[in-house]
Amino acid sequence: MNNPIELLYKEHEIITQAIKSTQALKSLIENDSEAYKNGMRIKIDFFRNYADKYHHAKEEEVLFPEMNKKNEILSDGIIKEMLENHEDFRELLKNIESLIEKNDYLLAHTEFEKYAIALSDHIAVENEEVFQIAETLFEEDELEKIYFKFLDSDSELGDSTKTSLEKAAI
Ligand SMILES: [Fe+2]
Ligand SMILES: [Fe+2]
Repeated sequence: MNNPIELLYKEHEIITQAIKSTQALKSLIENDSEAYKNGMRIKIDFFRNYADKYHHAKEEEVLFPEMNKKNEILSDGIIKEMLENHEDFRELLKNIESLIEKNDYLLAHTEFEKYAIALSDHIAVENEEVFQIAETLFEEDELEKIYFKFLDSDSELGDSTKTSLEKAAI
């Protein structure tokens, strides 16, 4: 079966890989700050586009609304919390970017660490709670429909751009 949840787990793995590779840039602050700045710009672009556009679009525009339709209590509970987290991530990322552009690398990296913890926690809640709920809410044919909506969402945003963004996670 084409399982949409598997697709989201896979994207979470790629995002987690990007968190680790971004944390590893820290040593460049002392040794090669230009390389740090360039590296961070690439990572910020990854988080903004891959994590926020491609990944969050699937959750915000497809999966979460479908889950809310099945169980209204979710929309005021865990789903609301997940959406608030997405908003917080956008703000944190903007802040990191402006610190990078001001060449305030140490503070930028401290802020990135906060972002990394918050995003990792969010991914854990989705993996361990939200996706588990989703798997119990939907029948196989409903999951299949969600899967194809996910594919449509990716192709609307551009499949080749997604593939090239994935390379920036490493
Ligand atoms: Fe999310
Ligand atoms: Fe997610």
